[in-house]
Amino acid sequence: MSTDPSAGPITEPTATPVGADAATPEPASPEAVAGPPAAGRKPVVIVDDVHVEYKVFATGKRPTAADRRSLKLRGRGKQMRSVHALKGVSFTAYENDSIGVIGTNGSGKSTLMRAISGLTPTSAGAIYSHSRPSLLGVGAALLKDLSGERNVILGGLAMGFTIKEIEERYDDVVAFAGLEKFIDLPMRAYSSGMTARLKFAIASMATHEILIVDEALAVGDRTFRQRSEARIREIRDNAGTVFLVSHSMQSIKDTCSRVIWLDQGTLVMDGEPTEVIRAYNKAQDK
Ligand SMILES: Nc1ncnc2c1ncn2[C@@H]1O[C@H](COP(=O)(O)OP(=O)(O)O)[C@@H](O)[C@H]1O
Ligand SMILES: [Mg+2]
Repeated sequence: MSTDPSAGPITEPTATPVGADAATPEPASPEAVAGPPAAGRKPVVIVDDVHVEYKVFATGKRPTAADRRSLKLRGRGKQMRSVHALKGVSFTAYENDSIGVIGTNGSGKSTLMRAISGLTPTSAGAIYSHSRPSLLGVGAALLKDLSGERNVILGGLAMGFTIKEIEERYDDVVAFAGLEKFIDLPMRAYSSGMTARLKFAIASMATHEILIVDEALAVGDRTFRQRSEARIREIRDNAGTVFLVSHSMQSIKDTCSRVIWLDQGTLVMDGEPTEVIRAYNKAQDK
């Protein structure tokens, strides 16, 4: 979970659950939602004309109470700037989809992932999801002062496992993260790669219906990347839906069945990985 102070407050997902007995919310017009045709497949996440606008002070700082008073006194709020990070993005994700999300820095990938997981409120449009998505980002919350071992236990408890269930999975999690020799050290002593590996290993203890991985794999080494890619495919094959934000086109080609390309907050292309990646690379070469 990001600790970015300027990020929106943590809210319940803006999504309305598409319950078994609730009517499937259809976007205003089916054509408005891009994506490959999905005959008979279950829609899991519907993103319907979503906009996200961040309100920021031009200094990049959050306004303090004193700032607000002085602004009021001077009767202007000019420094307040808004960043339109997503400008009407629409698509539907189905079960068994594993969707790669690509785009240059600042194109809105993380914003879209945070909006889908309910962490960032949308300023217009709507997101419907079938179950609560789990966001696995580089910033996921672990406690730095505790050992890796304690964090595995806490993470497991947070995901609803009993101590006994955690004990059964513990060795697998540690082996998956490749941290056997370091698991008793406080996480402060871990490199960013070790931390990211442990996060991914803890998160993959649970079976996620909707898993969002935001560049978490980039920090791992090659063997870890392969292990986590295999885990992503496993989730996808178990009727899950995975979103993978990555700058590694190889990771995306190896794990994704579909790719979404964002540019300046707009969805440029949504389709077959090799085609979208080819078009994206071509645009970068210009
Ligand atoms: N918490 C925030 N407050 C203000 N602006 C933000 C915030 N997070 C992202 N932005 C801005 O929104 C845009 C999209 O950012 P982001 O979603 O992080 O892109 P990406 O993940 O593709 O690099 C950028 O212009 C970025 O500066
Ligand atoms: Mg990002």
